[in-house]
Amino acid sequence: MFRVLFLVFVFLLSSSPVSGSNDAQIVKHATDFTKSEVYEEYPGGSATHLKLINEDAFSFPSANMSFTRQLDFAIGNRLFTRNWASIESGARGIGPLFNARSCQACHFKDGRGHLPTSSHDDAISLIIKLGNAEFAAGDPVYGEQFQDFSVAGIKSEGRVAVSYSISNVKLADGSIVELRKPEFSLTSLEYGKLAPQTYLKPRIAPPMIGLGLLQAISADDIQGNADPTDVDGDGISGRVSYVSYGASELIGRFGWKAETHTIRQQTQLAFFHDMGLSSEGYYENAGGCTPRQQECLKLSASQAVPSVELDSELLDAITFYASNLSVPKRQGANNAQVLAGKEIFYDIGCASCHRPKYITKQSDTPPEQSRQLIWPYTDLLLHDMGPQLADADPKKSANAREWRTPPLWGIGLTSLVNQEYGFLHDGRARTIIEAILWHGGEAQQSKERVVELSQKQRTQLIKFINSL
Ligand code: HEC
Ligand code: HEC
Repeated sequence: MFRVLFLVFVFLLSSSPVSGSNDAQIVKHATDFTKSEVYEEYPGGSATHLKLINEDAFSFPSANMSFTRQLDFAIGNRLFTRNWASIESGARGIGPLFNARSCQACHFKDGRGHLPTSSHDDAISLIIKLGNAEFAAGDPVYGEQFQDFSVAGIKSEGRVAVSYSISNVKLADGSIVELRKPEFSLTSLEYGKLAPQTYLKPRIAPPMIGLGLLQAISADDIQGNADPTDVDGDGISGRVSYVSYGASELIGRFGWKAETHTIRQQTQLAFFHDMGLSSEGYYENAGGCTPRQQECLKLSASQAVPSVELDSELLDAITFYASNLSVPKRQGANNAQVLAGKEIFYDIGCASCHRPKYITKQSDTPPEQSRQLIWPYTDLLLHDMGPQLADADPKKSANAREWRTPPLWGIGLTSLVNQEYGFLHDGRARTIIEAILWHGGEAQQSKERVVELSQKQRTQLIKFINSL
């Protein structure tokens, strides 16, 4: 019944001839915190799922999807969870070097990854990308990404080790929060040393929900958020990530640094770097072999052009799946504590980067994401987050300190979906408060306001975030 009513509402929203100026009215920041806003419980618009909230909460298709398209979603799901085989079996071949055999190995239950929990645990949902100011293609020996697995007959590149330095932050009310800063190292290096200039870029797998909706936000809205020279003087100066694709410059939206512009491109890169499977435009040295890894190159040559391993139909299926993982309905949006937390969130400047809402572009393809009022809590811009979160010395990498504001929808369900998980780009934060206390740079002031909060206010803020 509620569902029917809800769909009628959303139909009204999507069919009413709302003008551009009305849209601006609908998405402007909240000012009344005595009750929840209209449609606020449906962060993904009519794509939001209303299923029971349990460990499968991130795995449902867009609720407004037609029945035939649900079958396509099921096909995409099978490809996402499929374990790709290696060359010897005669199947389309994973490798020669790779990080995991399936998408799901890292995006477990369509949720997020974590750091290795013990020295015996492998670093499966963690990727170490390699940066080097002198070589565009990463490390001259190990390439753009470190691969800790390989097919039979060649050596993997080595192993990833993590240790922590611990520090304590004292909050104004006297409570102490322990922070752990991970230090990553590559051990058992099988192909010799890394170049001295090479630095590590650790990345944890982000959750998969709502990605198609982020793709459907208009370029104008993203560009409208940007304030690269901080004209309005609020200390926050997001900039759009432009990435080149062929001859054009496109807006990067995906990945912790917004380095890829579409879900399809991200999928192709995942197949290419993480699994060593080639697809159109991504076939040279699939598996990340470099000229210094001859055995690897020989094996990958046996699967060379023009026999691309993944055809476009398969890519379309998996992209469709990855674009349609639905955001769950919010819990307790109208709860008094949550509303108090929401007011604090706005008041201390979190909403300047974690921008609450948008109306997505109108489009017949794909219909699920067309003209939806969504609540992702991101501006999709890059922000300087200070030295503590930086990948490397900023002299070595121009954007070492910059990160894309991650969406916050669904974040409160993380521990339900994933037994092990970590927040922030390298998974260092074990809790929401830890994640906030790592904020620096443009978010320094906002962070300091959190430190000053009373325990009651802090609990309200976190309750709000957990309700998203
Ligand atoms: C070895 C682990 C691993 C595997 C396997 C993997 N991913 Fe990822 N995925 C990641 C990491 C890490 C990121 C973040 C990358 C970055 O920030 O540069 C990511 C990012 C993404 C994103 C962007 C999400 C966002 O919020 O910006 C999509 C989409 C995605 N992966 C889809 C896939 C698909 C589809 C597959 C299978 C073809 C796959 N991934 C396989 C680890 C993995
Ligand atoms: C200047 C922009 C900015 C402001 C202001 C800001 N954030 Fe963030 N936030 C980010 C970025 C960028 C990241 C990702 C950083 C990283 O991964 O290293 C992030 C990450 C987070 C995360 C972890 C998300 C995840 O998926 O791991 C949470 C939670 C969060 N912010 C909450 C807040 C709260 C609460 C406030 C207000 C006190 C706030 N943020 C203010 C930009 C901002």
